[in-house]
Amino acid sequence: MMSEDRTTSRRKRNIKCLAYIVAGVIAQTIIILLFVMLVMRIRNPKVRLGGVTVENLNLNSSSSSPSFSMNLNAQVTVKNTNFGHFKFQNSTLTISYRGTPVGEATIVKARARARSTTKLNVTVSVSSDKMSRNSALSSDVGSGTINLSSHAKLDGKIHLFKVFKKKKSAEMNCTMEVTTSSKQIQNLMCQ
Ligand SMILES: *[C@@H]1O[C@H](CO)[C@@H](O)[C@H](O)[C@H]1NC(C)=O
Ligand SMILES: *[C@@H]1O[C@H](CO)[C@@H](O)[C@H](O)[C@H]1NC(C)=O
Ligand SMILES: *[C@@H]1O[C@H](CO)[C@@H](O)[C@H](O)[C@H]1NC(C)=O
Ligand SMILES: *[C@@H]1O[C@H](CO)[C@@H](O)[C@H](O)[C@H]1NC(C)=O
Ligand SMILES: *[C@@H]1O[C@H](CO)[C@@H](O)[C@H](O)[C@H]1NC(C)=O
Repeated sequence: MMSEDRTTSRRKRNIKCLAYIVAGVIAQTIIILLFVMLVMRIRNPKVRLGGVTVENLNLNSSSSSPSFSMNLNAQVTVKNTNFGHFKFQNSTLTISYRGTPVGEATIVKARARARSTTKLNVTVSVSSDKMSRNSALSSDVGSGTINLSSHAKLDGKIHLFKVFKKKKSAEMNCTMEVTTSSKQIQNLMCQ
């Protein structure tokens, strides 16, 4: 009787112990799988221009010395869909007119929080003086619409749970039209 009882209880204990080990292994496997899935699913953040306003617009459409200059206040948005924050380095926002750079500003290094959109303000001073003569400048300024494009590339790293880092970058290419009469930006489009 006694010995039979002891055997049953020992068997019960063994089964319990085994159940704990199995549960532990399953839990660990799930955690590892989740981690691997999060790491594999790390995506490049997206950077765009959210909105642009025009200030201090100066134009000259004379055929002898046409020119434009203005300040663009740009809202730069960095959308980070990852489960870790995106820490990026200083980078340059370039504004171009017909492929030629006419203004530059620094997007100061920052940290874009996980699963959120970070908004940054950048002011770019744009001037056609920075480029050599362009035959289309006079007619473009005279037409009342100046097409500009913007480019920036944010290089950085996604930090996951403070232990894992992966290099990622976000690139922006946007185009916009400056309507000179209303000093407004129209058809702002980003890829
Ligand atoms: C445009 O430039 C021409 C030539 O430099 C100058 O004579 C004229 O006054 C300028 N116009 C404006 C509105 O600044
Ligand atoms: C980043 O840009 C800011 C502002 O222009 C500058 O003060 C800083 O030194 C730059 N940092 C690096 C690492 O280049
Ligand atoms: C960016 O500019 C907008 C509009 O001018 C302002 O409301 C916002 O507070 C600014 N954000 C930062 C971080 O400076
Ligand atoms: C400016 O871009 C628009 C399309 O975004 C285009 O229809 C228009 O012809 C362009 N204007 C000039 C002067 O290049
Ligand atoms: C942005 O434009 C540049 C120059 O036209 C091009 O090399 C690059 O591939 C473009 N990037 C994206 C993300 O469209």
